[in-house]
Amino acid sequence: MKILVTYWSQTGNTKRVAEAVFEALPGEKTILPMNQVASANGFDLILAGFPVMQFGPPPAAGEFIRKYTAGRKTALFVTHAMPVHSNDSRQQALLEKVLARCRAAASASEVVGFFHCQGELSETTAAGLLDSDIPELRRFAFMRPLTLGHPRREALEQAAVFGRTIAGDDPDIL
Ligand SMILES: Cc1cc2nc3c(=O)[nH]c(=O)nc-3n(C[C@H](O)[C@H](O)[C@H](O)COP(=O)(O)O)c2cc1C
Repeated sequence: MKILVTYWSQTGNTKRVAEAVFEALPGEKTILPMNQVASANGFDLILAGFPVMQFGPPPAAGEFIRKYTAGRKTALFVTHAMPVHSNDSRQQALLEKVLARCRAAASASEVVGFFHCQGELSETTAAGLLDSDIPELRRFAFMRPLTLGHPRREALEQAAVFGRTIAGDDPDIL
């Protein structure tokens, strides 16, 4: 099986997840940023990752996924500033809505997996979000302290298990 891992990453979080997934994969594999992928022909499985931006996929990542993964076996991985689990039901509902939008980017693909984890909100990003016209995005800027150090080792290990499972190479644990 030939596997392509591809990612869009502005501050490096999604790239780190992509690398953790890639390293764990068996067999013939390639890793490339989305803007260096000329064709997806010949790949049996595509793992595509991107950060959440403004409550959904960045437009360039959404376009990439629609163009290159339609009709193909695809797994998505996503990073975002929100905690993966929140006791605040509104925040949890917002995360689920945002993740549904991310999944929808691959609605024409054969989606075989989805992984998401928290990613640090960089200082520059937080400063930029403070200038946003959208109040919810301004609020995100204050979440930076809660995001520091993410994706953490545990999330990268989970990403590796995700990759192996998608590739059908997960250890028999049951
Ligand atoms: C312009 C912008 C908008 C963002 N909007 C959101 C958002 O709506 N929800 C969220 O959880 N994180 C949001 N983030 C945070 C990123 O998703 C998060 O920091 C991600 O891990 C960055 O990944 P990267 O380092 O691969 O670029 C936003 C970041 C930027 C720069």
